Amino acid sequence: MLDSIFKSTLQEIKFGYLKRKHPFKYCSLSSISEDRPIIRTVVLREMTNQHELVFFTDQRSPKIEQYKKNPHAEVLFYHPKKLWQIKVSGKVQLIKDEKRLHYYRQSVQGASTNDYKTKQTPSSVIKNPDQIEYGEDLHFAVLGLQPDSIESLQLKRPNHIRCRFKRANDWQGEFLVP
Ligand SMILES: Cc1cc2nc3c(=O)[nH]c(=O)nc-3n(C[C@H](O)[C@H](O)[C@H](O)COP(=O)(O)O)c2cc1C
Repeated sequence: MLDSIFKSTLQEIKFGYLKRKHPFKYCSLSSISEDRPIIRTVVLREMTNQHELVFFTDQRSPKIEQYKKNPHAEVLFYHPKKLWQIKVSGKVQLIKDEKRLHYYRQSVQGASTNDYKTKQTPSSVIKNPDQIEYGEDLHFAVLGLQPDSIESLQLKRPNHIRCRFKRANDWQGEFLVP
């Protein structure tokens, strides 16, 4: 049973970017800044064969510095129809491999390039949204979260099913009290 839950957990995460309107397209990604947790919504772009979760961001965004200082992070997914929560925890790194960066950069097209082109630095204070200006430079960066633990909780009758899979145990699972 644990094996099949692990497989379906990975499959459901992949549906986040493979299926239109899947609730896992958007997830919550944490970071730590001066001992305080910070959380934000991001778009899941891919999960690699090594279970690395991939996100795009602006290379000037504050989370980049936060992950340099403390790479520990957690990603939270929730599927409202299936009452299914999945948590992925591990370390976040900037992806620097040129081939991979080129591959991901190609997928950013049209209006969405503006997400990485603001003249003002992300998170800087402005008087009005109309003040945002766009330059030519694409400040595109890719973050990869290497998981060391993946946890699934599905609310069901008669028993909720919560289990955890750890990289250190070769992704073998164990059940937890929900
Ligand atoms: C629906 C939605 C999707 C978002 N997707 C991303 C994303 O993929 N990457 C990203 O850096 N920020 C994304 N954001 C913006 C972040 O939530 C956050 O506001 C921004 O990254 C600044 O975060 P930071 O100051 O903690 O770095 C998204 C916001 C929303 C509402």
